[in-house]
Amino acid sequence: MAFPSAWLDELLHKNDIVSVVSDYVELKPKGRKLWACCPLHGEKTPSFSVSPDKQLFYCFGCHAGGTVIQFVMDMERLTFYEAVQSLANRVGMELPNEINDREMQRQRAYKKRMIEANTEAARYFCKCFLDPEIGKDAQAYAAKRGLNSEIVTRFGIGYAPNTWDSLLKLLKGKGYSEKELVDAGLLVHNNDRNTVYDAFRGRLIFPILGVNGQVLGFGARVMGDEKPKYINTGDTPVYNKRNNLYGLYLHKNEKLDDLIMVEGYMDVIGLYKAGVKNAVASLGTALTQQQARLLKRYVEKVYIAYDGDAAGQNATVRGLDILKNEGLEVRVITFPDDLDPDEYVQIYGKEGFDRLKENALSLNAFKLEAMAKGYDLNDENGRERYAKAACAFVAGLQPIEQERYYKLIAKKTGYALEALQAQGLRSGGIQTGEGRGTVRGGFRRRIETDEDPRDITERTLVLACLHERKAVESVKNAGAEELFRNKVYRNMFKAICEQGSAFVLAKYIGELPDKDAEIASAVLREEDAIENAAETADDCIRKMQKENASDEIAELQARLNKSDLTAEERNAVLKEITDRIRANK
Ligand code: UTP
Ligand code: MN
Repeated sequence: MAFPSAWLDELLHKNDIVSVVSDYVELKPKGRKLWACCPLHGEKTPSFSVSPDKQLFYCFGCHAGGTVIQFVMDMERLTFYEAVQSLANRVGMELPNEINDREMQRQRAYKKRMIEANTEAARYFCKCFLDPEIGKDAQAYAAKRGLNSEIVTRFGIGYAPNTWDSLLKLLKGKGYSEKELVDAGLLVHNNDRNTVYDAFRGRLIFPILGVNGQVLGFGARVMGDEKPKYINTGDTPVYNKRNNLYGLYLHKNEKLDDLIMVEGYMDVIGLYKAGVKNAVASLGTALTQQQARLLKRYVEKVYIAYDGDAAGQNATVRGLDILKNEGLEVRVITFPDDLDPDEYVQIYGKEGFDRLKENALSLNAFKLEAMAKGYDLNDENGRERYAKAACAFVAGLQPIEQERYYKLIAKKTGYALEALQAQGLRSGGIQTGEGRGTVRGGFRRRIETDEDPRDITERTLVLACLHERKAVESVKNAGAEELFRNKVYRNMFKAICEQGSAFVLAKYIGELPDKDAEIASAVLREEDAIENAAETADDCIRKMQKENASDEIAELQARLNKSDLTAEERNAVLKEITDRIRANK
C-alpha cells in the first residue's frame, strides 16, 4: 500500500510524536529530549527518549526506535499499514486510496459484513448456552470440564443448539443472505440437494477472535465421544487458521515477558483458569510463519508447550525452527505421561506449571533430547550411535554454546567430555544456519535471520547515510548507486542524495509500492539503532565492493567458458580477470 507523499506529510505533521507518545506515557523534558520509562518494555528508570526536533524516539534499554509510525507499530503491535491507518484515524484524516478504490472498498465492506454476522452468531450461541432449557446439557458439560461462569464470559463460550436451521432463521431475519452466511462459514451448502443448513449443531462453541477483538470464526466441540471432536471455521474472507492464534487478542494492550504456545482451545482456557494467562493456541495445526510473525509483534520469547504425546512432540520440532527463524527466543516445556497442558495444570496447578517452565529446555537441548528418542541408550551400541550423532550436531553450534551441550551428552551417555569434544571436531559439524556474519558497528537490535547478508549490509549502509553526511560522500566516492545490488536500497540512496536534509524516511517508504515498502521499512525499524555511522559505512562499502568485484570476475569467467570467442578475445578476457583478481586482493 503506497501513500501519496503530500498525504503522508500531512499525517506526520498532524501526529506530532510528542503528542502521540504522550497518549501512552508522561514525558519529562531533560536536555533537548523528553524522557519516560519505556512503554515498550518494563523498566524502573527512564531510558526512553523522544526528540521533538527530529520527530524520532529511541529507547536505550530495549533499542526500539524510529518515527511516530514505528512507535505506533511497536506499541499497538500493528503493521506499517495499520499504524498509518490508526494515526490517520487519530487526527480524522481519510485514507487516500479508500476514496478511489471501489473494489477495495467493496471487499472491505464485505469483510465487515462477515464479522458482523459472526458477532451476531456469537451472541446467539452465548444466549443459547445461558438458556436454562436449551443450554442445559452444555452447562452441565462445561461444569464437568471446570469452566466456571467467569471463564465462560471471558472466552465467550456458547452453545449451538442441535437443530438444522435456528441460526439460519435468525440471521436471515436480520437481513443476511444465504451466500453471505455460507461465505462466513456459519452455514453449510449441500450441493446434492441445493439446500443450506447450520454449520454448528449440538456443540460447545469457542469463538475465535482476531487481535482487534472481532469475531472471525468458531471452534465447536462435541459434548460426547462422536467424531470429529472439533469442527472449525474453514477459510473465509476474514479467517484463515494459518494467520491466527487463539487467545492472542486477550493481550493486545499488555506488556508480556513471553507467550506460551499450546495446541488447543482447552489448553489456553485450562491454563488461564489455573492462573497462567499468557497461552495462545495454534489450533492443532503446525505453526506457520505468519503465526510466528504475529508472535514476534508481542514478545521476544516463546515457550512451546505442546501435548506430551508423539504428535505433539513432532509438531514441536517443526514449530521450533519456524519460531527461531523469525528471531524469537524459543524454549520447550515438556509434559510427563502424555499429559496435555490443560490436564497437567489440573493435577499440578500453576506452581507445577511454573516449575516446568523454569526448567524448560533450550532449542538445542530439546533437539538433543528428541534425537535421543531414536536410540536405545540402555544398549552400548545405541549409546555410541547417539553420541556420534549428537556430537556432530553440537559441533555445528556456536563455540560458546558447545560446552554446555557436550556436558549434556556426557550425562546422557556416560562418555567423557574430552572424548565427545574430540568426536565433535572430527565430525566437522552439521550446518545449523547459525553464526551468520554481520557488519561491525551494525545494528544493536536483532535482524531477521533468514535475510540475505548482502541485504543487511546494504541496509546498514543506507542507514549510515541517513545518519551522516560523510557516509553519503564515501558512497559517492566508491561508485555511488552502482554499488548497490538491491534496487530498493539503491533507490533509497538516490533519494537521500537528491533530497538531502529534506529526505523523510517514513514519507519515502509510504510512497513505495507494497513490496518495496516492506523491504524498506526494515530501515525504518532500525533507524535510530546505529553507532559510528561513518566507520560502519566504510565497512559496508568495502564489503560490497569486494562482493561486486567477485561477481564481475565470475561473469568474466563465464564469458571465458563460452566457445564462440576468438583467441584474441579470450586473451583480453583472461587479462581482465587477472587484473581484477589482483585489484581485489
Ligand atoms: P486436542 O485433541 O488436544 O483438543 O486437539 P483439546 O483442545 O485439548 O480439547 P479437549 O481437551 O480434548 O476438549 C488440539 C486442537 O486441535 C484441533 C483443535 O483446535 C484442538 O483444540 N482439533 C482437534 C481439531 O480441529 N479437530 C479435531 O477433531 C481435533
Ligand atoms: Mn485436551
